[in-house]
Amino acid sequence: MEYLKDDPVKLNETKDAVVIIDQRKLPQETVHLELKTAEEMYDAIKTLAVRGAPCIGVFAGYCMAVLSKGEKTGNTADFSGIMKEHAKRLNSSRPTAVNLSWALNRQMRVIEDMKDSDAGIISAALFDEAERIHEEDISMCLKISENGLSLLKNGDGILTHCNAGALATTRYGTGLGPLLLGKERGFEFRVYSDETRPLLQGARLTAYELAKAGIDVTVICDNMANLCMSEGKINAVLVGCDRVAANGDTANKIGTSGLAVLAKHHGIPFYVLGPYSSIDKNCRTGKDIKIELREGSEISTMWYDTPLTVEGAKYYNPSFDVTDHSMITAIITDKGILRPPFDDSIGKAV
Ligand code: MRU
Repeated sequence: MEYLKDDPVKLNETKDAVVIIDQRKLPQETVHLELKTAEEMYDAIKTLAVRGAPCIGVFAGYCMAVLSKGEKTGNTADFSGIMKEHAKRLNSSRPTAVNLSWALNRQMRVIEDMKDSDAGIISAALFDEAERIHEEDISMCLKISENGLSLLKNGDGILTHCNAGALATTRYGTGLGPLLLGKERGFEFRVYSDETRPLLQGARLTAYELAKAGIDVTVICDNMANLCMSEGKINAVLVGCDRVAANGDTANKIGTSGLAVLAKHHGIPFYVLGPYSSIDKNCRTGKDIKIELREGSEISTMWYDTPLTVEGAKYYNPSFDVTDHSMITAIITDKGILRPPFDDSIGKAV
């Protein structure tokens, strides 16, 4: 599919900037940004110009490479110290998706393993590693999509939440991967996309991607999922993930856990899709996953000319929630379809 080839993250020709599609502007405008400094990169993650767990990981890999090129110091110890500071700063931008620290740690390992080399040679190795992270993401997404598609039937009604497509990864995506791959193979799905308050990734990004791919998409408000399920419109729920604990508890966009409870009530399979790099065995359960809290203005004023509610009202804006492993039918990864008991299947796969 042609549009999948415009990766949301890549290097510019001179390899001194990371180029992203500014996802804050979609679907109205497709704007590319060239990011050169650590602060520009930090802001891009923080404000969701670049977003989606795997995509943030690919982005972080390239950021480290580009930042290393700008560091002129010939002293390897100084170079390593500066790069550590960049990694720390980028890692502090958003806490929940494990792919960010995973990619930064990969790049820091390259630096540590080459500590006797000069900075220019290490920088070249960081570019190679960033390309590898990117290539791996493309092939993981394809495998996840194949695995997910094997569980679906032509004509299925699918509910999805947030955006776990090509914009959130590179190429097919995770949660949307089976749908995009299926479309290429002649499957026709009916997709219901939760709008996903407060940042509307479902209404803005998922609907955009699916419509571009020619897939039948219906946008619903987040509180309409139960009715759609009870009306028999939904055969499966497909969502992405930001961090999966060793027992299968899964952090994903706020609202995901409620969908899982509803799906269980209606006897509808609830599938989480993500690469093995989203599994964090350092988190024993979901209680160990840090949930990002964001500004209340995303609820009150972001989409309105005047504030939505009365002055003095408070806002609570957690960006993710944790779905209990008991609500999940399967976790679909590039390493296979993991079924309960997840501590066992995750333990064997990763
Ligand atoms: O806050 P976002 O838009 O970065 O949240 C994204 C999600 O919750 C996705 O479902 C998740 O990162 C998986 S993307 C393949």
